[in-house]
Amino acid sequence: MRLQGKVAMITGAANGIGLASVKRFTEEGARVVMVDYDDKTGQQVAQTFGEQVKFYAVDVSNRQQVQEMVEDVVASFGQIDILVNNAGITRDAMLVKMTEEDFNHVLQINLNGVFNCTQTVVPYMIEKGTGKIISTSSVSGVYGNVGQTNYAATKAAIVGMTKSWAKELGRKGICVNAVAPGFTATNMVEKMPDKVKEQMSSIISLQRLGKPEDIANAYLFLASDESNYITGHVLHVDGGIMM
Ligand code: CAA
Ligand code: NAI
Repeated sequence: MRLQGKVAMITGAANGIGLASVKRFTEEGARVVMVDYDDKTGQQVAQTFGEQVKFYAVDVSNRQQVQEMVEDVVASFGQIDILVNNAGITRDAMLVKMTEEDFNHVLQINLNGVFNCTQTVVPYMIEKGTGKIISTSSVSGVYGNVGQTNYAATKAAIVGMTKSWAKELGRKGICVNAVAPGFTATNMVEKMPDKVKEQMSSIISLQRLGKPEDIANAYLFLASDESNYITGHVLHVDGGIMM
């Protein structure tokens, strides 16, 4: 059991990669706080895990909701050892067509959401003198992507924040890393136009989309003691899209 005795908070946990991570983390003995603004799905799936999992219907872009949740989690669980900043959205459009609203909306969730959760959880990790923070970047943030000005900006920002936090928090015993997934079979990729999806497999060395479990396993490694000497790293889990 690689996470026995740990409490992990996973955002965007009701679907896709987040949900696969709840499964992997509980299999490895963690108690998991599932965070998602999809209340209905979150409640439904949380039930299937029993008492090892508690669901919070929270929008990570809402600071007040995040603060209230973190206080409640610390009161109920006594600690937060692992934070996985996985929640994210897309609002794709070509630059010339992208509305200011879509630009700002993606920033609010993918960027401010990560800031809100990390800033609220970190004081408890500092107090304990240990912790693991994992945030989800993307191949789009590292190499850019057509139609993703807003999304790519947030995912590149996660790399910068991760490295800054690794430098700030190393002396406090906290490891801060990012995972940069490639195209992974979830609702997010399902929404892409068929024509673009068809082009995808030709650029992936392993010739297939990622599975949510592929990314969950990377989160697990970075959450476990096996990665205790790794911080400020961006782990690419993309089937070899670009090297
Ligand atoms: N790579 C290469 N070319 C692309 C492309 C891509 N990713 N996306 C669009 N294009 C091309 C189209 O094939 C089209 O080419 P032609 O003019 O030669 O036909 C041109 O760009 C314009 O595209 P559309 O006709 O589709 O223009 P639109 O304004 O109707 O839609 C769009 C633009 C919203 C960007 C739409 O094309 C789209 O959704 N593309 C996919 C964007 C994408 O890759 N999103 C990733 C989602 S998954 C994710 O985000 C997870 C992650 O982290 C990787
Ligand atoms: P998904 O759409 O299947 O799941 C995302 C989850 O986040 C949903 O349950 C959604 O309700 C939740 N969420 C969205 N905004 C939220 C908010 N403001 N507050 C709380 N919860 C919120 O997407 P997927 O693919 O599982 O994505 C997970 C992460 O992985 C995202 O950060 C995404 O950007 C990233 N990613 C995904 C890739 C892919 O190809 N699927 C590739 C690279 C990165």
